[in-house]
Amino acid sequence: MSEQVACKAKALAPGTALRADLKLESGTPHGIAVVRTEDGEIYAIDDTCSHADVSLSEGDVVGCEIECWAHGSRFDLRTGEPDELPAMTPIRTYPVRIDGDDVLVDVHAPMSTAKENA
Ligand code: FES
Repeated sequence: MSEQVACKAKALAPGTALRADLKLESGTPHGIAVVRTEDGEIYAIDDTCSHADVSLSEGDVVGCEIECWAHGSRFDLRTGEPDELPAMTPIRTYPVRIDGDDVLVDVHAPMSTAKENA
């Protein structure tokens, strides 16, 4: 387990998302979207849409999904699966733990694995 502080929970209003740049084991920066649903649950997913180089944290949070603003695919925050075209490939989801006001994310241990584009 190698958690990193992604953001402060207070900075994440219900129904919003923000981007955090964390470090992979190689030291390479990796952008994730930290998302709080209207219900208050916090999730972490890859920030880059699997269809094109678009930041998902700039999209709308709808229930337990985030909508890519470019072409409208919605990704399930629990599984990373897109709901419809044009995105076809899931994105990674990551474990989140709240410690005080810190939102901790472990990018070294994804809960779901993105598949390569076919
Ligand atoms: S870039 Fe996200 S659906 Fe096209």
